[in-house]
Amino acid sequence: MKSSSTFAGIISALLLALLGASPSVSQNMTVKPPSPLTCGNTSDAVPLYLAEWPGAAFYSTSVSEISTVVSRNTFMFEGISARIFLTQELSTVPLFRLVQGTDMFFTISTTERALVLQTGYIDEGTAGFIYPSQICGSTPFYRIYTSLANEHYYTISSADRDAVLASSGNVPAGG
Ligand SMILES: *[C@@H]1O[C@H](CO)[C@@H](O)[C@H](O)[C@H]1NC(C)=O
Ligand SMILES: *[C@@H]1O[C@H](CO)[C@@H](O)[C@H](O)[C@H]1NC(C)=O
Repeated sequence: MKSSSTFAGIISALLLALLGASPSVSQNMTVKPPSPLTCGNTSDAVPLYLAEWPGAAFYSTSVSEISTVVSRNTFMFEGISARIFLTQELSTVPLFRLVQGTDMFFTISTTERALVLQTGYIDEGTAGFIYPSQICGSTPFYRIYTSLANEHYYTISSADRDAVLASSGNVPAGG
């Protein structure tokens, strides 16, 4: 793990709307403004859908996969959780998906992925690609761990995160 700070559980997903203005070009700048050329093409971003079941959350970019889960189980379709890339765009990294029981585990860390695999999680490859930090107008994708149910929950909404944290048994993950 990178750090034990309160940000340790944070991974980044693409922002829903980009700021339109291009960075102003100032002369003699010692700090280079972020170049759009190092960012992914937002037109390529796709929805990461969320389906929920009491105590469990299922995420997929695949309409057929999310439909199957909703129709086969008692999962409720909850809409779009975040927007991510399906292919590796500039400055993005793989978002690994692992599963154990009904728990979906996402990480961008190969180290954490290896550790989790040792605890019995099944490797499900990559869910997509995201920015490893809050660059290119992206927004944090918070990860929350519910110890009571041994389930992880993910959201780009800090209000949603705080509401889930307010229920007993929840702690910020990754710390
Ligand atoms: C500042 O930028 C101008 C225009 O690019 C250049 O001519 C000048 O030499 C620069 N000055 C310094 C101190 O770098
Ligand atoms: C971004 O993707 C769209 C849709 O594929 C394409 O039309 C556009 O040219 C791309 N923009 C850049 C800067 O590559």
